Amino acid sequence: MRDVKQIHLGAHFPSMGQHVAAWLHPDAQIDAGQNVSYFMKLAQSAERACFDFVFMADAVATRDGNMDALSRWPQYMAHFEPITLMSATAAVTRHIGLVCTASTSYYEPFNVARLFGSLDHISGGRAGWNVVTTANPSASFNFGREAHYDVEERYARAREFVAVVKGLWDSWDDDAFLRDRVSGRYFHPDAVHRLDHKGQFYTVRGPINLARPPQGYPVIAQAGASEDGMDLGAETGEVIFFSQSRIEGARAFYANVKCRTGKFGRTPDDIKMMAGLNPTVGRTRAEAQDKFEQMQSLVHPDVGRELLSVELGGADLSGLDINEILPEDRVPVTTNVSRSRLKAMAEMARRENLTLKQLYERYAGTRGSYSVVGTPTDIADVMEEWVATEASDGFIIQASYLPGGFDDFATMVVPELQRRGLMRSAYSATTLRGHMGLNRPASRYAR
Ligand SMILES: Cc1cc2nc3c(=O)[nH]c(=O)nc-3n(C[C@H](O)[C@H](O)[C@H](O)COP(=O)(O)O)c2cc1C
Repeated sequence: MRDVKQIHLGAHFPSMGQHVAAWLHPDAQIDAGQNVSYFMKLAQSAERACFDFVFMADAVATRDGNMDALSRWPQYMAHFEPITLMSATAAVTRHIGLVCTASTSYYEPFNVARLFGSLDHISGGRAGWNVVTTANPSASFNFGREAHYDVEERYARAREFVAVVKGLWDSWDDDAFLRDRVSGRYFHPDAVHRLDHKGQFYTVRGPINLARPPQGYPVIAQAGASEDGMDLGAETGEVIFFSQSRIEGARAFYANVKCRTGKFGRTPDDIKMMAGLNPTVGRTRAEAQDKFEQMQSLVHPDVGRELLSVELGGADLSGLDINEILPEDRVPVTTNVSRSRLKAMAEMARRENLTLKQLYERYAGTRGSYSVVGTPTDIADVMEEWVATEASDGFIIQASYLPGGFDDFATMVVPELQRRGLMRSAYSATTLRGHMGLNRPASRYAR
């Protein structure tokens, strides 16, 4: 391989696909959210294509809103719990990293440390935890609360939560378990540590009942984009997922997050920035454009309006014609859902004076990420430019529909990236940290 910066790739598999109308595509796997063999095959094809990892997002609630519209948009309505799914996937894959989401607002640190620690052992060092504070406010009603935590508290809890989880992963020194029948000693008594954490939100004694994970800590991924979110990413994230619809925005976000690492005693290289990318691949540009337009034609206007309402942090868009310009008085000033998403969409609407229909069509397949429609060469050119000019270190591939949209990418674009020397053709490492070029953290108790 030439000495050029390698592109990291994650495959995001949101059930039927990233597009709001994915399930209506005639070739989409219609029961994807709960079809285990289908997911295994997707993960195996990502592994054949030498991806760094597969990623499964999550929510701990169904979505509430206009049920009539939601009945046409099944995302998160029938959806496997992802850590369970990743454990099963570990058994049918050998190399690929397994990254999924768990919420710091609605889980306990002890549970999360055990779950991801176990996944790391089960997979031989391939686990990653996407730390989210949970955007969907409905989650609160499933956990004994009458309202979602506000943004500031969510991020303050998340910071403490991650620190506790890491502390628990250090409970046992790497060489703690002797398992020595001759001496009759199973573990070294000095090699186990109580955390004794008493903080603002959590009190956790420890130790955890699990040996230190093979990677030391499973890889920490993060996707916050608000001020608090970027700080959490800079402090704790090793892989940052982000959505930017333009390369200029991506470069600014990349620099912004990497610059923040200094104040947390870290360096920019400690973080790999992974941009969401929604590719539509064709053997010719015309074929790609046809595929793109076929997907767009499947969006029901009620779903489009509902999508905008979610992205605008719960805006009330009822009664509006989809062909009118988004009225300023319907754009919330702030939100407790996702401030960065509200800001991004409101700015796009204002900048380009878009109608509701134009706006939801922009978001239907991308959810604010970059969309590229073209030949394998076109798509590889874009990816190469983004990585060469510090707009990203890699991409989360979010195909509009699955499995076909992903297979197009894996069979047409990946070989082009490999030909250019931008991507591996075989795995050389055995852990997710190895694939991503991330160091294995030493235990805080290491001598
Ligand atoms: C690739 C990607 C994956 C994400 N996965 C999840 C997820 O699984 N669950 C979730 O609640 N939010 C998820 N998010 C949303 C982020 O966690 C976060 O809420 C969002 O980026 C807004 O950040 P902010 O709250 O700091 O404004 C994801 C975002 C991106 C870009």
